[in-house]
Amino acid sequence: MGGPQKIEHVHDYLNQIMTDRDMIQLPFAQDHLGPWIAKRRTPEVQKKYQEIGGGSPILKWTNTQGELLCKRLDHVSPNTAPHKHYVAFRYVPPYTKDAFEELERDNVARAVIFSQYPQYSCATSGSSFNAIYTHFKDRNLPNGLRLSVIDRWPTHPLLVKCFADLIRKELAQINKEKRNNVIILFSAHSLPLKTVNRGDSYPSEVGATVQLVMEELGFCNPYQLVWQSKVGPLPWLGPFTDEAIKDYVKKGKKNFVIVPIAFVNEHIETLHELDIEYCKELAHEVGVEEIRRVPAPNDHPLFIEALTSIVHNHLQNKVTVGEKFLNRCPHCTNANCYHSKKWFSEVCNH
Ligand code: FES
Repeated sequence: MGGPQKIEHVHDYLNQIMTDRDMIQLPFAQDHLGPWIAKRRTPEVQKKYQEIGGGSPILKWTNTQGELLCKRLDHVSPNTAPHKHYVAFRYVPPYTKDAFEELERDNVARAVIFSQYPQYSCATSGSSFNAIYTHFKDRNLPNGLRLSVIDRWPTHPLLVKCFADLIRKELAQINKEKRNNVIILFSAHSLPLKTVNRGDSYPSEVGATVQLVMEELGFCNPYQLVWQSKVGPLPWLGPFTDEAIKDYVKKGKKNFVIVPIAFVNEHIETLHELDIEYCKELAHEVGVEEIRRVPAPNDHPLFIEALTSIVHNHLQNKVTVGEKFLNRCPHCTNANCYHSKKWFSEVCNH
């Protein structure tokens, strides 16, 4: 998705999200209603970005991750070197088209489209893949460019080890007497129930990551998967992170470690929603004893090893695009998904 780097970019960012029908389907007149909602929400969202330092750090983190990944790849896979990363954001520059134009100027021979969402959702990963199809639908692929896709990696062992390591470090900061009673709250971005009921695989993939992380930790603590960042009046997937904290406190459970299990780097949902709104304001309001937020993987060495191993294996593997990716949700009616998957199947020489 990307995130606005400056306050003045917030409106454009929201406007693009609210008019992207792969991401959000408003009940009517999306072309008018979307911009109207974006305009209305801009001041409130701008204030949030102001409170985290004036912009999103997501481009900085994504570039850091890309550089570290390529450095490791050059080392472990010298026969495919040199490697270079390109960032393709959905709603702020550098856009998909910017990334592919740069790639074309560089005369790249082989490109791996590597989704940075470990768990796949049609609203996020799917929308980005559809944007790549839209960019190419009226033009040819650059001469000789070979494409392949890494669309999801929710259960990669090094991703699991990375989260487990981050959680262990946070638990270690908590007083021994209460450490075992701390509830580990795995918090992921929620989805509208309409999207879930269409057959979106995101909830099950997030659940798979959670299960493996807890297994790696030896099921040391009580834990719960919760969902954050709901917007609008329609029903979304719960239980919601803030409501879960409130109700646990009412039940006498007052110590938490929060894990942003579907975010690979820091951005507004971790730095503002989790850190300020929940860990500071809500915790104070409802009488939480201790609450700690696990950092996103960012530049954790195990995370960079995970990225490296995923791409390295992919380059050695003959599979250029997964069957799961090519198969649409059972209740998908989005023509964009049909055309996009057909296109990927052809260009990846499936
Ligand atoms: Fe899932 Fe179209 S909404 S494939």
